[in-house]
This record gives sequence, C-alpha cells and structure tokens, in this order.
Amino acid sequence: MKLLQQSFALLIMFFSLGVFSQEITLKSCTGFEKTGAKKIIFGCEGGEKLMLEFLDSKNIKFWYAPNGELTRNNESFAVNNEEFDPNFNINVEENASNFEIFTGDLRVMVHKKPFKIQIFDRYQRLVLGDLDGAAYVSEGTKTEARKVLREEEQFFGLGEKTGSLNRRGRSFTMWNSDKPCYSDTEDPLYKSIPFFLSTYNYGIFFDNTYKTEFDFGKKSDEYFSFSAPDGAFIYYFMYGKDLKEVIKSYTRLTGKPIMPPNWALGWSQSRGMLVTEDLTREIATEYRKREIPIDIIYQDIGWVEGLQNFEWRKDRYDNPKKMLADLAEDGFKVIISQDPVISQVVEDQWQEAAKKGFLATDIRTGKAYDMPWPWGGNAGVVDFTNPEVADWWGELQQKPLDDGVKGFWTDMGEPAWSNEESTDRLYMKHHKGMHDEIHNVYGLEWDRVVTEQFEKRNPNQRVFQMTRAAYAGMQRYTFGWSGDSGNGTDVTDGWESLADQVPMGLSAGLGLIPFWTTDISGYCGEITDYEQFSELYVRWLQFGVFNPLSRAHHEGNNAVEPWLFGEEAERISKAAIELKYQLHLYIYTYAREAYDTGLPIMRPLLLEYASDEKTHEINDQFLFGESLLIAPVVEEDVTYRQVYLPKGNWRDYNNPKKSFKGRQTVDYDTPLEVIPMFVKEGAIIPKMPVMPYIGAMKNAPLILEIFPAAKPSEFTLYEDEGTTNDYRKDHFVKTKIESKTTSSEVIVTINEPQENNFSINGKRNFWLEIFLEEKPSEVKLQGKKINENSSEALKSGWNTIFDTSGYYYDAENARLLIRLPDNKKKQLISIVK
Ligand code: NOJ
Repeated sequence: MKLLQQSFALLIMFFSLGVFSQEITLKSCTGFEKTGAKKIIFGCEGGEKLMLEFLDSKNIKFWYAPNGELTRNNESFAVNNEEFDPNFNINVEENASNFEIFTGDLRVMVHKKPFKIQIFDRYQRLVLGDLDGAAYVSEGTKTEARKVLREEEQFFGLGEKTGSLNRRGRSFTMWNSDKPCYSDTEDPLYKSIPFFLSTYNYGIFFDNTYKTEFDFGKKSDEYFSFSAPDGAFIYYFMYGKDLKEVIKSYTRLTGKPIMPPNWALGWSQSRGMLVTEDLTREIATEYRKREIPIDIIYQDIGWVEGLQNFEWRKDRYDNPKKMLADLAEDGFKVIISQDPVISQVVEDQWQEAAKKGFLATDIRTGKAYDMPWPWGGNAGVVDFTNPEVADWWGELQQKPLDDGVKGFWTDMGEPAWSNEESTDRLYMKHHKGMHDEIHNVYGLEWDRVVTEQFEKRNPNQRVFQMTRAAYAGMQRYTFGWSGDSGNGTDVTDGWESLADQVPMGLSAGLGLIPFWTTDISGYCGEITDYEQFSELYVRWLQFGVFNPLSRAHHEGNNAVEPWLFGEEAERISKAAIELKYQLHLYIYTYAREAYDTGLPIMRPLLLEYASDEKTHEINDQFLFGESLLIAPVVEEDVTYRQVYLPKGNWRDYNNPKKSFKGRQTVDYDTPLEVIPMFVKEGAIIPKMPVMPYIGAMKNAPLILEIFPAAKPSEFTLYEDEGTTNDYRKDHFVKTKIESKTTSSEVIVTINEPQENNFSINGKRNFWLEIFLEEKPSEVKLQGKKINENSSEALKSGWNTIFDTSGYYYDAENARLLIRLPDNKKKQLISIVK
C-alpha cells in the first residue's frame, strides 16, 4: 500500500514536471454551442474547449479546457457571485472566419483559425487580444494564456507584492511563502491575489489556486502571459470606464471587505515578546500616562500555553480575565495571535485532532503530516478545508474571546515553513485536495473558519482578524499586514524596506486588502541603539499612521513603544498618532466606501489620475481618500523631498497659505517632525478631537475642516454604531456637507442627516475650521448674525454645552472657527467676506 502511494506521488511529480508531455498550441475552434442565455462553449480542433460566460456587458468569465473537460476539483475559493446581471443575454453572430458577440459595451471577436479572441470597446479600440496563433499553450497539465502586449500598456496589482507598483517588465509567482526580512524584490511572498489591472481599463482575475505565474513582458515584448501548472484554467476579464470600476467588479465577484470595528482604525502596539500580563499592563499604563492615543494591544503567540490549545500561559498571566477587564475599562482592546497547527507536544490535543482526521495527512504514510514549526516543536497542520474542523476550532478560539479578548491575529498561514523550496510539503493531503492545489488557499480557509465561527458564537459583533497569508477573497473575513519586513542584519539599514512598504500597501489596496498595516519599525533586526534607530522609527511611524490599521511591532523583545526613542521622537510620534485620531471620521467614512465598493483609502495616484502617465511611476506618494495627498519621507537624513501634484489645485496641509497648481513637482522641506501632506482645494474633512481612544470623549464635537474652492464641493459623512454588524443592514446615518464660494460669501451647508435605523446618540456641537485668508465681516447662521468670541470662550464646553454659537477668526493660521449646535436639521452658514 505504502509503495503504491509512493509511486502515485512520483507519477504526479513527473506529470507536473512535464516529463511525459509536449507543448500543444490551440489552433482552431470552428464550432460552438450556446447554453443558456449568456454562455457559449467553443469546440476546437484538438478536442479543446473554451467557455465564455458573459456576467454582464463588461465582465466575462473564460474557462479553457485543453483536454475538453470543463470540470474542476473544487468550487472557487474566491468567487462568491457570478450573478452580475441575471437578465443579460447574448447573440452570437457567425461569419465565415469568425464569431462576433456585441454586448452593448464590448465587441468580442472570436477568430476561428488561427484561433484568437479580441475584445474591442464600443469605439473599436482593442482592449485585450490573444496572441496570434498562440492564444493558449499547454504542456502536460500546465497551460499558459498569451495576450498581445502593447508598447505603452502598463500593469498594476497582484495584491501585496514587493517592488514598484507598475509591474511591466517583471514576472511574479503565486506561492504563499514565509520570508522573514524579505527584500524589495522578494517573490513570492505571503499572499496570492491573482488579480491585476491594465492601463487599458480592464482587469483579469485568474482564479487558479496552484502555483500560477504572471509575466508582464519580461520574457517577450510581444505578449504578456499567465499560466498555471494544473487545475481548471479559469479567469475573469473585467472592463470598466476606469480602474475604479474594474475594482468594483472584482469586489462584486469576490465579495465586499468586512468593515473593521471603529477602534481597529486607532493605534496599536505589539512586540514579539509582548506576552506577559505585567508587560501588557505596564505598556497600557505608560500610554495613558504619556497621553498618547491607543486602542489595541496585541499579544504574540507566546501568550498561549500549548500550540494551539488557546489556554493562557500560567507563568505569564496571573489573571488574564481580570487583566482584560481592567484594560477594557481603560479603553484597550486586546488581540491575540493564533497559529494554524497543533504541536505534537500538546499530546492529547494532537492525538484527538489526528484521530478525528482534522490534520493534513502525508500521502506517504497516511498519517498526520509531520510539520516542522519554529516554536513549540513539530506540529500537525490543521485541515481547515475539512468542514468538521470548523466547530472544533470555533469552540477552542472562543475560550479567550469569552475571557475578553477582542479578536485574532492569524499568523503563519502559508502554512509557514512551506516555501517554494520546501517541496516535501507537496506530499500533504487535505480534505479538499493535494497540497499543490490547497497551498495558496490554506490561509484563506483558516481565515474563513475563524470569522465564521466568531460570527456564529458572538452574534452581531464585528470581527477583528488580521492575517499574513491568504488568497483572493480574504477581504470577506480578514484584514492584512505585510509580515516580516525590515533589515535583520543591521536594523538601522531598513530604509529600503520602509520605502518598499509604501507600494506594497498601495498594491494590497488595489487587490482588495483595504485594511492593512506594515509593522511599524520593520519587524526584523535587533535594536541595540535606540537613538541611532530613532529617525527610521519616526519615519516608519509617520507612514504607518496612514495605514488603516497602524501597528507598531518588532521581533523578539525589541520594544518599539514611541517613548523609547528619545523625547523628540516621542513628541513627533505622538503628534502623528494624534493626527490619525483626528482624522478618524474621515477614515471611517472611507472604511464604509471600502465596504461598499472595494476601493481602499490608501490609493495610488494612478487610481484617481490614471490618464496622467506620471502617476504610473509614483511609488512614494499616495492619496488618503480623495482629498489628501501624503508623501511620506522614506529616505534617511533628507532635508527635502520632491512631491508630484496631479491636476487640480492643492494646498500644503501643514501650511495651507501655500497653494499649488497641479501637474507639477514641488520641493518640500522635511524636518523630522514634518509629514509632507497636501489637501485638495474644496476638501471637506470631518475630524474629531484628540482622545485617548476611539469613543473616549462622549458628545465629542464634529469638526469640519474646510478648504473652500471656487467650485462647489461636498462630502458625505458616514457614521454608524461602530462595533456591530448592523452596517450590513445599512443601519447608519449619512450627512452631506457642502461648500461653495460666491463673490461675496463662502456658504457652508450641513444638510439634515439621513438616518437609516441609526442616529447619533446624545447631543453634540459642530465645530467648523474654515481656511480663510481674510477676516470675514460677519458670519450668519440661518441668515442671522452670530457673535464673535475669543477662542477660549468659543471652545469652552464644546462637548458639554450645546446651545451656543459663535465664531473666532485666527489670523495667524488663516482659520475661521465656528461653533454651532448639531440640531439634526439643515444648517446654512454664510461667511460674508
Ligand atoms: C511571524 C510573524 O510575522 C511575526 O509578526 C510574529 O511576531 C511571529 N510570527 C511570532 O508569532
């Protein structure tokens, strides 16, 4: 029996190495069969089949079967909706040499011989075309699709990959890999998001979980390609008027990103050895004492007694429940790490899991696969593709949740130590298939179980899960972070690593990982000289506060709390963290947009200004929402940096008196305390006062920072309860704020809030901060003049007194401050010049 299994494994390996095969190119397809309203299957000369399914007029599913069998081992792990337009139907027109399908938006030409498909837009421009005479090339179980590459075509995407955003001229592999201290050229890495975008306004999602390859003109100037060593060859072509529309289609296909609890968008602190009650309490106290805002404290894997029994280590935690309760009282949320394995040292649990068939097996022995693990001894890999595992795991992970933990940090789900070079792992068999098929979705399946079980056992509570290894579709269950960045040889040499985190985070966002963080400080490297490291720490943090999740983390016992890097670093870090808290309502509104559309808040410039080719090459700047442009400093010891401003009118956010026309590069001074930031004219930015944690100040005023422009502008503020799943039922309140300028006035309108099963609890004030270079002659509310006050009088009781209004002009900062109560009615504020 064992011999038989071994020969079978060898046979599989030979096939995947292509030992018994030769290259076959798809030549011609002359017949077709239409099934249903929108599906066509072309029959081809060598018995191949190609299915096209039109999801709607812009989105097409392709399925190529070189052996003529349109079958797959598993349903898609990523796609959960193909019903784009249930009423859509197509007509196939047959001509002598081709078939034609016109969808209303696209003209699809299927050439019979030599076979190729060309997709044109309504104006006969080629959007995507197969390579002449070699649309699909197969060898053994491997298939490659080749598409015409145009000279000026650029590619973006593939999720959280290293290197510049523009992928042209490079090739990439999907094989979830754990690569501590990875370089800026490392590939593959933790996550597999086989979705990319082209400047021709289309995207392709290649839904194959095997070790796929993408080549964007590295091996040829004529074509780009994507290939899979095995499995059903299915991909989705998505077209849009712009890349945002393509991302929206990808979101429809693979699911909306879950919204984080509001506190998840605050600041968080972590460390490899932050795994004791004493240290946790100490750090919490210190944060509050120093008045640096913070919401989350992480506990790394050393919190657990045995991998993975979800019991607190007794020698490290005296009374975890009490610790969690005390911390909660003080506004802290605790997130703990979990690994997807059962250590053999935790014998009872390991035996139980093995006996129940909950561990991946080794096809050579038929027993649980013996997985080396960096801590806790060799382990068994929990088989999350087995549906019976879910409740078992759910019950285990519920124990710390019942103690008061708020969520999970799902780590090592590659599963770690099974990188490309570790081919022994291919002997692993999972419930849903062999490891070569499951490897890239292993993490995703785990994330799914963690979230589904969380939601089942904690009804209507928003899940917090942050993960390292995953596949497309992860946004339905989890957020992401970029793992072990940084320089492990000399920690102070981590600048390149920091610089690389910017495009990585942006590309993650394009691949539906909108809620993301870098390890602030970089994970790798011993910090021996804090003073020497402080500049890099501060710059990393100044970038990191604009990551939606913002977590400071470092390996081992290297502490990375802001106060350890000297007074100046602490002051600057505190200011950056405070800015994050001030921007919370703006961030939260974009979090809702991410849920609705898939669009991230951290956006590469090319997403908003794609027709400006300059933006295709920008890796060190990004838009934060539509109104702010951030240009973090990612180089050592620089006194200024250059910033490219796309079209429009911009102001220096740090000094709004300075205005700039777009489409130019400007020099910006960069002393350590400065984060180069620009704001778009017309911007309306909702803010909140600095507070120790999200929600700490009751009845906090709603601050509206406004930069009036000649053109009218608006912003619709989104607010909801913050921690339940009622957002999925659209329980929220939206408030549209408008600003316009006439020759004599600036008019701000706060419209009546649109309440949908939710309203703001209690009273509050509006606090307007309007950028205005001249003192106004008067300020009117609903047509009636309001009083001018001193700034102190205006601010006093801004979260306790709700029946006064007034204004103050701050000449030095060119700001007009206006206070008025939020009476939940439409408010018209006119500022007479
Ligand atoms: C690997 C993770 O990437 C890292 O962040 C974590 O600290 C270690 N595992 C230990 O759990």
